[in-house]
Amino acid sequence: MPTYSNRPLTNKKTLESTYSPTVLDHMHNPRNWGIIDKSDGYGRIAGPCGDTMEISLNVKANRILMCTFDTDGCGATVSCGSIVTEMAIGKTLSQARCIDQRAILDYCAGLPQVNKHCALLAANTLQKAITNYEQMKSTPWKRLYRTEQ
Ligand code: FES
Repeated sequence: MPTYSNRPLTNKKTLESTYSPTVLDHMHNPRNWGIIDKSDGYGRIAGPCGDTMEISLNVKANRILMCTFDTDGCGATVSCGSIVTEMAIGKTLSQARCIDQRAILDYCAGLPQVNKHCALLAANTLQKAITNYEQMKSTPWKRLYRTEQ
């Protein structure tokens, strides 16, 4: 699995006054970075700002065993991607269906208004990966034609 390469970030004081400790922790140490090869479910979405997120899943007995992400987005998007994977791992699919923008924002202890759509992007990408898993499960032959992970 590829590793996260630390990017230069804006000045530390600005970051600390803008983001919660939880967001900064996930921004600097993102969990579950990378895309699973031959995943059970995969989603990719471009947000309104043009940033993209990808999420891949491994599912067994209706439970998410592995959930990983990748993004070309901002630091807040990295945090939201990392957080949504942490929230999803170990959950049943129906529990993971409840992970929405609000749940991510609560976990983050809030995000600045300008970054709230980063949480929406992460939530929607997770939901798309779950939908993809369900579609692949009901029509497994489609996996042969899936061009993305
Ligand atoms: Fe657009 Fe983070 S996803 S700024």
